[in-house]
Amino acid sequence: MRAPVSPEPDLVLGGAPIWRGWLGPAAQDEMVAALRRVVAAAPLFSPETRWGKAMSVRMTSAGRYGWYSDRKGYRYIERHPSGVAWPAIPEPVLKVWRALAPGARAPDCCLVNFYAPGAKMGLHQDRDEADFLQPVLSISLGDDGLFRIGGQERGGTTQSAWLGSGDVMLLTGPSRLAYHGIDRVRGGSSSLLKEGGRINLTLRVVD
Ligand code: SIN
Ligand code: MN
Repeated sequence: MRAPVSPEPDLVLGGAPIWRGWLGPAAQDEMVAALRRVVAAAPLFSPETRWGKAMSVRMTSAGRYGWYSDRKGYRYIERHPSGVAWPAIPEPVLKVWRALAPGARAPDCCLVNFYAPGAKMGLHQDRDEADFLQPVLSISLGDDGLFRIGGQERGGTTQSAWLGSGDVMLLTGPSRLAYHGIDRVRGGSSSLLKEGGRINLTLRVVD
C-alpha cells in the first residue's frame, strides 16, 4: 500500500508547506465557535518566560497535554493552571490534521495562541516533544500574522510570509526543528473575530 500523501501546497517557506485558505469562511466560523468553547472551559492565560517576563501572546490548550512556561522552563502539563482538565481537541481541528498530516500519529495537544494587536512571538524551536518525526500543524485565524522561519541554528538567514485567516502550515522534515516566530500582527486585516486579533493553533504529538 502506498504511504498516504498530503495535497500539493501553495507555497513552501523554509521547507514548510503552506496551504493558503485551506479553511473557507464557513469552516473558519465553525472553528472559532469550537474554540470559544475551549476557552470557556480553559481560559486564556499569559505564560511567563524562563526570565520571568509575561509573554505578549495569551494561550490555552486542548487535548491530553497543554503547553506551559514559567521560570522553571517550557514543558507540557496535564491540567490547565486552574486545575481543570484540558478540553478535548475539537473535531474540526482534528479533521485538518487528518487531511494534511495523513501519515502522522494523532495529535495530543492543540496549543491555542491569541495575539491581541501588538502581540508577537520571538524566534524559537518547537522541541518539547518526544518524536521530531511527527510534524507540527499550524492553523491561522483572524488578522494576518507576519511569520518568520529560519534554519535549525539560531542566527542564520530567515524568510517571511504573511499568514492569513484559514491558512494552514506544516512544520515537517527539516523545517520541523526550524526557528520560527511571529514578528507582528496586522490589526484590522480580518473581520473573523469580533474583538479583532489573531488566533494560531498548533497541533503537536507530545509523547
Ligand atoms: C507558535 O510557534 O507556537 C505559533 C506560531 C504562529 O503563531 O503562527
Ligand atoms: Mn512554535
